[in-house]
Amino acid sequence: MARVVPLDPLRRAKRAQASSAENPSRLRGDGSALTRLTALVEDDLTAVNNLVLQRLLSRVPLVPQLARHVIAAGGKRLRPLLTLAGARLCGYEGTRHHALAACVEFMHTATLLHDDVVDASTVRRGVPSANALFGNASSVLVGDFLISRAFQMMVEDGSLDVLRILADTGAVIAEGEVRQLEAARTSTLSEQTYLDIIRAKTAELFAASCQIGAVVAGRPAPEEEALRTFGLNLGIAFQIADDVLDYGGEQTLLGKTVGDDFREGKVTLPVILAIHRGNEAERAFWRRTMEEQDRRPEDLLHAQRLLQAREALRDSLERAHHYGAMARDALGLFPDTPLRRVLLDLVDFAVDRDF
Ligand code: IPE
Ligand code: IPE
Ligand code: MG
Ligand code: MG
Repeated sequence: MARVVPLDPLRRAKRAQASSAENPSRLRGDGSALTRLTALVEDDLTAVNNLVLQRLLSRVPLVPQLARHVIAAGGKRLRPLLTLAGARLCGYEGTRHHALAACVEFMHTATLLHDDVVDASTVRRGVPSANALFGNASSVLVGDFLISRAFQMMVEDGSLDVLRILADTGAVIAEGEVRQLEAARTSTLSEQTYLDIIRAKTAELFAASCQIGAVVAGRPAPEEEALRTFGLNLGIAFQIADDVLDYGGEQTLLGKTVGDDFREGKVTLPVILAIHRGNEAERAFWRRTMEEQDRRPEDLLHAQRLLQAREALRDSLERAHHYGAMARDALGLFPDTPLRRVLLDLVDFAVDRDF
């Protein structure tokens, strides 16, 4: 299988610059907000990546073996980038944020390991998923290790506030995933319930990643709250875009299998819109495929056509941009700096990305 997601954002940017002609847009050093943000905190991110690699070590060889498989496969490192950027935006000049950024990447990686088991996904970051390679049990257990390691590192840091924020977040993410499990195969799922679920499973970690940047900087409540609001809305926008990519993305760019949500009967915003807008025959199609789990090989293509015809992907992205606008507004109280400008641009990246 082709390795489609480069190792880390910096390597991606460098590799991209070297070969822009044959590479798709995301691989070009095209000044995307992610590439620019990565460059702005390059030294900090290198420190975080080194810490991540050091701290996944264990006396039990399978732990680092499996964890390294998923971590070395790449990933955008968006959540640790948010912690680094949040701290810097608040004027922090120390190094505590490195370990805390590593913590949020560990928590994120653990949710991916667990999520791929729950979703029966076989590709992650352009390589076979850990569950596909090592089995479900190993993936779940190494995910547990990563969460525990993250909490060990928070205890080492010593901030009870950070510990509280990330402990709360861990519980909310798990609740979000359980709610999603219960909501699967429900073709009558409301947009509000969908939003509650994605806020819990995805946006809360974005919010916490940003917020702890303000906490280490010792900033007053309004700044902490502003960063939290930025992260929360960015996270909602990000997950809506992810759900659009699951139908409309290009698999080789995405590094995940297109159609996973459909195959699992996961009802996401594009499907909710298509159901609301569909005629009786279309609703019968969604009931059969999502609710009754009766799917034929040609159904995914038909689903994609219906989403297109009902403009469900386009309008989902429009809603994502609405949350993006709220994220941008939340940064209003910070001074105009290059870092703030990149964070404002990151919002559009989160929605219009193709990976
Ligand atoms: C994937 O997150 C899980 C979702 C919340 C959609 P990312 O798209 O940030 O995953 P990586 O870390 O870049 O692989
Ligand atoms: C991500 O949701 C949720 C968490 C990782 C908690 P998805 O199931 O949509 O994420 P992908 O598409 O597998 O990355
Ligand atoms: Mg998944
Ligand atoms: Mg997804």
